[in-house]
Amino acid sequence: MRLDKFLCDCNVGTRSQVKDYVKKGLVQINGQQVKKSDVAINETTDCITFKGEQIQYRKYVYIVLNKPAGIITATEDKRANTVMDLIKPLPVKDMFPVGRLDKDTTGLLLITNDGDLAHKLLSPKYHVDKTYIVTTAKPVTQADIDSLTQGVDIGDDKPTLPAKASLLSDGRLELTIHEGRYHQVKRMLEAVNNEVTALHRSSFGPLELDDNMESGSWRELTEDEISKINVR
Ligand code: URA
Repeated sequence: MRLDKFLCDCNVGTRSQVKDYVKKGLVQINGQQVKKSDVAINETTDCITFKGEQIQYRKYVYIVLNKPAGIITATEDKRANTVMDLIKPLPVKDMFPVGRLDKDTTGLLLITNDGDLAHKLLSPKYHVDKTYIVTTAKPVTQADIDSLTQGVDIGDDKPTLPAKASLLSDGRLELTIHEGRYHQVKRMLEAVNNEVTALHRSSFGPLELDDNMESGSWRELTEDEISKINVR
């Protein structure tokens, strides 16, 4: 791999920035300063440093974020803060959120640079379970639970697929869906003449939010979580 590609992939900077850093002597390969950014390096065996700090090459990075309300799920936005603004510094370039939570929705959001995995996790073929804790304007009845479980008409071609629904002791609804339609949970509650007043995603496939994870905080997935989520 070329040194400049390596540095870009590791999010040290853009192509032109990393060229400049190399020219300025800020990059060393195995303790030797280099002045040319097109030299070949071995990303697994060579020790590359930038400003004296070792840069570790990682092909894929997986992050779980506890998304706060008021932040949009996008990679960039001219006006609003995005979920990517919460993760600094990004360990690799080209990271993006897997799927989307509404601006007012909180909870578990997976962020990665692994396009193939994201594609699979979002594909209806894999039916990845997504669990939401739903606060509603009105109490949810047993009849509502039955309807949500069987599938409701939310105005699309087909009703929603069977879901899991149950009431928590505090009256909130725990809803597990396998699809990812636009505003699906909000529309499902509208279909039973109710309204979502707060929405929190507590799990995504095998991933669960840790109880002690503060809103807005993030961590990388463990090896165990990565192997569980990998549907390759
Ligand atoms: N369903 C919704 O309505 N909103 C979300 O953010 C996620 C699921």
